[in-house]
Amino acid sequence: MQASLPSHPIGVFDSGVGGLTVVRALMDRLPFENIIYFGDTARVPYGVKSVETIGHFTQQIADFLLKQQVKVLIIACNTMAAVAADRVRAASPVPVLDVIEAGARQAVQVSESGGIGVIGTPATINSNAYARAIHQLDPSFRVYSQACPLFVPLVEEGWLEHPVTRMTAQEYLKPVFVEQIDTLVLGCTHYPLIKPLLLDVVGNRMKLVDSALSIADQTAELLQSSGMANPVHHVPDYRYYVTDLPVKFQTIGERFLGRSLNRLELVSL
Ligand code: DGL
Repeated sequence: MQASLPSHPIGVFDSGVGGLTVVRALMDRLPFENIIYFGDTARVPYGVKSVETIGHFTQQIADFLLKQQVKVLIIACNTMAAVAADRVRAASPVPVLDVIEAGARQAVQVSESGGIGVIGTPATINSNAYARAIHQLDPSFRVYSQACPLFVPLVEEGWLEHPVTRMTAQEYLKPVFVEQIDTLVLGCTHYPLIKPLLLDVVGNRMKLVDSALSIADQTAELLQSSGMANPVHHVPDYRYYVTDLPVKFQTIGERFLGRSLNRLELVSL
């Protein structure tokens, strides 16, 4: 494989459309970087699948992006990061960043009380990956985790402000509220889309950590420190690969991205 160059793209991947929240944060933070996005829309959701299946699918996507000569791999999916980040790192010739590491770092910086809540898919929460990442940074932190399986379908349905989503959030967060927690990590690609609703439900009880923003900062740091930032300051190239084109993909994708979604290509792994 040819050595990576600063002009090569950043590779970002997710189980579906949700990782576009990370792409959006990267476009804002690093406006001259070329980006390739891969969404496994044919096989989403990952959050309710087995560890073996998630690991196998994740490696297939990483291999696909490495063949596209990406200079860094970003695992935008919390579920894939929770279950398969070590496996991807072990096999990757380029640096691998993941949303869990970035979210954990940010949470430790933000929390004053030492109590951190994490919400995510069942696979992410069962893996305990956030608690491990937080304890690696500071073992004194208390971590309370809560799976919120209904949030992904509600967001996919576009119910971002819907009363059903609000009631669901109130129900899921009830046990979180009784813990001594001042910081809540949005440990799933889809949750930043309901951030206004969640902010409303948590009120002034806790601050929210959005791992999409944290990973964009971490990517900027990595590119700077390794001399891999793109020196070409032209309009960047954005490409999107998906494994299926569901009817609502374009509309939901554009909502996640906050801009129009062009250069979309269907591929099979
Ligand atoms: N991308 C997943 C995550 O961040 C959510 C969607 C899924 O379950 O595949 O955990």
